[in-house]
Amino acid sequence: VTGTRDHWEQVYRDKGETEVSWHQPRSERSLRLIRATAGPTDPVIDVGGGASRLVDDLLAAGYEDITVLDISATSLARSRARLGALADRATWIAADVTAWRPERTWRVWHDRAVFHFLTEIADQDAYVAALARATAPGAMVVIATFAPDGPAMCSGLPVVRWDSAALARRLGDGFRLTGSEREEHVTPWGSVQRFVYTVLERR
Ligand SMILES: C[S@@+](CC[C@H](N)C(=O)[O-])C[C@H]1O[C@@H](n2cnc3c(N)ncnc32)[C@H](O)[C@@H]1O
Repeated sequence: VTGTRDHWEQVYRDKGETEVSWHQPRSERSLRLIRATAGPTDPVIDVGGGASRLVDDLLAAGYEDITVLDISATSLARSRARLGALADRATWIAADVTAWRPERTWRVWHDRAVFHFLTEIADQDAYVAALARATAPGAMVVIATFAPDGPAMCSGLPVVRWDSAALARRLGDGFRLTGSEREEHVTPWGSVQRFVYTVLERR
């Protein structure tokens, strides 16, 4: 997506961890959803994971095969610095998910607040193509987006707000909707953002 890398590199260069709206001290809901389906030996990828602490939480829970992908190399460097020696236990990929050709599969695909930035159908299709290559039947997909009553913008960029049924339709017949949870995310400065966590299974 044109301009996307520069935008995110600037965000992560200019702002501290608690200066971005999406920051969570712990990724409680994501971890609970993942643990409900996948065990520590199941490979997990956090797409657009950025500087999220989900990787810390997964490592602490004993997950052995964790990958974090993000368009911003700076965000990944931040997470690696935070984790210190533990960082070598995860795999780090700097890539635009819409231009990425996965070379392996994961049991769990997790995305919090990344797909919702894809406002063009062609980019959404490219994301779904990467998702399909990166998963096998039975894989679990968790995609958290702003809800229909959530904000229209994130990080100064327009987003598409989704409910789970519409998101499942957009992903197509290859994915079956298995769950949906709403979340009122409280930003570091105390405002509320309504998210939907959509859970699907690869057919
Ligand atoms: C709102 S942040 C959410 C970060 C993280 N998932 C979390 O919950 O803390 C969006 C993230 O998606 C990344 N991103 C945006 N567009 C991307 C793309 N096309 N490919 C890969 N990552 C992307 C950004 O660099 C940023 O880290």
